[in-house]
Amino acid sequence: MLPLVVRISDDDERSAEQLKLDGWREIEVLETWQHEAPQYFADDHLLTTPNDLDWPFIIRLVGEVEWQDRLHRDRAVLKTYADQAKVDWITAISKCPTRKTYALIRRDENKGPDPMWCGGFIAVWPGSEFDTIDLWAVRPDYQIADAQPYWWLGTSRQLLECAIVRSASKRLRAGTQETNIAARTCYERIGMKIMKRQRTFHK
Ligand SMILES: CC(C)(COP(=O)(O)OP(=O)(O)OC[C@H]1O[C@@H](n2cnc3c(N)ncnc32)[C@H](O)[C@@H]1OP(=O)(O)O)[C@@H](O)C(=O)NCCC(=O)NCCS
Repeated sequence: MLPLVVRISDDDERSAEQLKLDGWREIEVLETWQHEAPQYFADDHLLTTPNDLDWPFIIRLVGEVEWQDRLHRDRAVLKTYADQAKVDWITAISKCPTRKTYALIRRDENKGPDPMWCGGFIAVWPGSEFDTIDLWAVRPDYQIADAQPYWWLGTSRQLLECAIVRSASKRLRAGTQETNIAARTCYERIGMKIMKRQRTFHK
């Protein structure tokens, strides 16, 4: 059973006190990141829109990544349950025709178009003012040199840039935990800024 969730502004001390008195557990601070203006990058990324054969590799990657989302941070939620929720989410994304997903899929040229593994993926929800990141991850043991000739770019940056280039607004919005240093650093690097901070409570 998913915990109930409530989010309040990070400066709303009064509501925070009341929620704690009412038995809510404080879990995390969620930051919303966004570009202030459209961002333009060259579309020379090695990413593809996944096909039916690629999706199992993306779903497997989701199961292998260390997630820092609210379910994983809540000690009252079993890790196996939080992991399964993430896999369920990516499975739902894979079936949703309005989402857009791009992935770095490694194929063995000698064996044809079959995927070998997924180096990373980004799934976004398209919007007219900005596209919102649903989920993105990079394979933990991914060797950056494997991405040649784009090895200097880095998979995480490729994923973000690709999503921006192919969005109508040329802007991304993302929600992330203030403790997720890797994701925050990536957002900063491509010029995103924090526009909102919210304290998150579970019950
Ligand atoms: C978020 C994510 C996609 C970023 O991809 P990545 O390949 O790890 O990104 P990078 O290696 O370019 O790391 C970005 C920066 O953060 C830094 N960083 C990463 N983890 C860090 C940590 N635990 N502490 C301090 N800095 C850290 C890196 O050193 C790098 O900075 P640098 O180039 O100046 O050294 C990846 O970490 C990931 O899959 N995380 C798990 C899933 C997730 O959190 N997704 C985002 C929310 S949906």
